[in-house]
Amino acid sequence: MKEIEDKIKHYPYLRYEENLLYINKQSSLDIAEKIATPFFLYLPERFEHNYKQLKSALSKHFTKSHISYAIKANYLGRVLQQVKSLNMNVEAMSLFELLLAEKAGFNYNQIVFNGPAKTVQELELTMTNGIQYLNIESMNELQTIENIAKAKEMKQEITIRIHPLLSEETEKKLLIKKNSKLGIDYERATKLYKYAKNSPHLEPNGVHVHVGTNLISHSFYKELLVFMNNYIKELGNKHGIEIEHLNLGGGLASKSTLDSNAFDLNRYAEQIATSIENIDNMTVILEPGRYLVEDSFVAIAKVLRTKSSWGRKWAFIDVGANSLIPMRYSHYIAIPGQNKGKGPYCRIGGPLCLPVDVISNESVSYKIDEGDQIAILNCGAYTLSMSEQFGYPRPAVYELDKVGGVRIIKKADNVEDMVKEAFSFETDS
Ligand SMILES: Cc1ncc(COP(=O)(O)O)c(C=O)c1O
Repeated sequence: MKEIEDKIKHYPYLRYEENLLYINKQSSLDIAEKIATPFFLYLPERFEHNYKQLKSALSKHFTKSHISYAIKANYLGRVLQQVKSLNMNVEAMSLFELLLAEKAGFNYNQIVFNGPAKTVQELELTMTNGIQYLNIESMNELQTIENIAKAKEMKQEITIRIHPLLSEETEKKLLIKKNSKLGIDYERATKLYKYAKNSPHLEPNGVHVHVGTNLISHSFYKELLVFMNNYIKELGNKHGIEIEHLNLGGGLASKSTLDSNAFDLNRYAEQIATSIENIDNMTVILEPGRYLVEDSFVAIAKVLRTKSSWGRKWAFIDVGANSLIPMRYSHYIAIPGQNKGKGPYCRIGGPLCLPVDVISNESVSYKIDEGDQIAILNCGAYTLSMSEQFGYPRPAVYELDKVGGVRIIKKADNVEDMVKEAFSFETDS
């Protein structure tokens, strides 16, 4: 069916053979034979592929670059273990993520630490352990860091997260706009740089910008990079502040979304290299989350119930919006485990008693019956890390390797434990 073929065009690890969906080398029906649905499948080879494509684009243009995986996109230990084995760095936003990074074997000079309201405990921990990429976004934060550095008789390197000046049209499309809580306007940022330069305990040497997610536009980057180049030049020429670390944040769409929108990673790297003067003296840092992990996970679900109402057919599967968080930028794609040909137009929802629990906003036109298997694509980013119980146990996660081996990497929640936890005040007191 063309509809299904079109949906999987940019997912090289998927194909249909005799109408059965194959993920890597195994049919999804075979995979689910021994595992209760719903469950997530992690495809480490896809993650590695995504990483290598980006790394190779950067390596062509820069002698010094880091890809710092944004832990918030998906914090599973197995993913972090792979990030480490690929020699990447990480980006963290909280004590939990710092401790995850530590556990996965990262040193603090391999961690970018972000967040608008870091605690003194987090700052002391990171500074004591030699953090190099400390991204700050307010004068009060800067002064807290200065006081800690003074007490420790040290000098702390700092990067400032700015919000750039972009055209009104571009601003409108961004997730993180001028009036958002994140970053600091570039004019105030200059005051922070000047303050830091005059402090014996601070060394301002980095600039950071992160304004969106699911970005697929070379013209957006062109505009952003023109601003960044002018800003960096002004810091150097007018204020004597030399930028050594240029952190362009996360924000890239998933590899399959980039491919389907003809976004070329080599061109992106070239855009950075040609827009920023003096780039050879800088380390280029990117903090991708979604790009690396979104299409490295597939959820496998079963149709629990179908119904028709007001002229529309519905199929309800056993994974819902408490795991597949519905966000402006998520685009889950539902495909059948077995292609049974054309059927009536049908919307796919989860089991929750909530109207927003609709997995895909498009109707599908393949035949769906109760008991069928449905696979959901693009569910690796901001799903497991943001999932809620909301009446249901969170699904297990399995890893599927390229030859078809399957192993569990995170257990499902257990309903009896969930009940116990709700009543834990009885046993704890
Ligand atoms: C500072 C920062 N860097 C990187 C990321 C990762 O973004 P994405 O998953 O869109 O690449 C985020 C996400 O919120 C972020 O806040």
